[in-house]
Amino acid sequence: RSYKNIFSGIQPTGVPHLGNYLGALRQWVKLQNEADNKTNLYFSIVDLHAITVHQNAEQLRRWRKEMLVSLYAVGLDPARSVIFCQSMVPQHSELMWILSCHASMGYLSRMTQWKSKLSLPENASPLDATPKDKPALRLGLFSYPVLQAADVLLYGTTHVPVGEDQAQHLEFTRELAASFNHAHSTTVFNQPETILSPAKRVMSLTNPTKKMSKSDADVKSRILITDEKDVIEKKIKSALTDSIEGVAYDRDARPGVSNLIDIMYYMDESVAASPEELARDFKDVSMRALKERVAEVVDKNIEPVRTTYNDIMAKDERDRYLTDEATHGAWKAKSQAGRKMEVVRSIMGL
Ligand code: ADP
Ligand code: NA
Repeated sequence: RSYKNIFSGIQPTGVPHLGNYLGALRQWVKLQNEADNKTNLYFSIVDLHAITVHQNAEQLRRWRKEMLVSLYAVGLDPARSVIFCQSMVPQHSELMWILSCHASMGYLSRMTQWKSKLSLPENASPLDATPKDKPALRLGLFSYPVLQAADVLLYGTTHVPVGEDQAQHLEFTRELAASFNHAHSTTVFNQPETILSPAKRVMSLTNPTKKMSKSDADVKSRILITDEKDVIEKKIKSALTDSIEGVAYDRDARPGVSNLIDIMYYMDESVAASPEELARDFKDVSMRALKERVAEVVDKNIEPVRTTYNDIMAKDERDRYLTDEATHGAWKAKSQAGRKMEVVRSIMGL
């Protein structure tokens, strides 16, 4: 295959955290900057995914803008990548319906994300989510992976850069693409490959056995890419570690310390050859000194992103240019998605 189509998405849940940055966004920028002229890149703010849980309209509008600015601030360039809001490209919803008519309920019931969002056990079935004792399972949350499959398949995607938590959904996408192709004797959909970035899973600072997440109620559990130096220092200082003497890298036995080592290493890979090596360099250092060093490395590396973010926000205050940028991105996405939908409709007899 001589061309590459890269697609990925992120929910508009405000300014991204270090997990999003190290696990996904930084990888997107790297792919963009290394792309040749046979590579097309699509990065979507997936607002239709965001509404699978209740959203306040005013807040969603603000979060969408903050995410757009964040994508520009980390280094995505609208001249090289198609950057757009999912809801501005109606083909996503249209293809989702068509794929829904091919998706297996059984496969969807085994997916773990709707269960974790409703705090249900991993072996729960859709019927366990009854409104009586648990929050109701909405159809949109249950069928989230079908919309995600539509997002990816609309652009003839060959590669999807994501964090480890999304690997299961991409497996589902490949399966759905194959069963659609088989049912209609066509090759209209590619089976995209998953690209995991080296920082597969950044953990919460306050509970390092859980992934760092925007939906965590504790704001001290995550560092945002716009956090000022003193905020970064405070959050890392209060990160949960353990009382074992010395520093060692062991993600199971010492998750808190290992997460700090990972964060420092992946923020700036020039500090050591590997996280293990970095931990060895710090083995006799106090927890307090380690935390100070981690905060310093995070601040130094995130500072340009924070500055650019603030500059773009200020420029938009003056020129109101972001709306036009977003419309232009959506227009480019729409023309690609529209061509794919013409083929799909014809295959379906629609
Ligand atoms: P969140 O999980 O915080 O709601 P999204 O679902 O919008 O974030 O995920 C956006 C991207 O960030 C995905 O590619 C996801 O795999 C990645 N990601 C999210 N959290 C982490 C994390 N803690 N570590 C690594 N990657 C992450
Ligand atoms: Na990743």
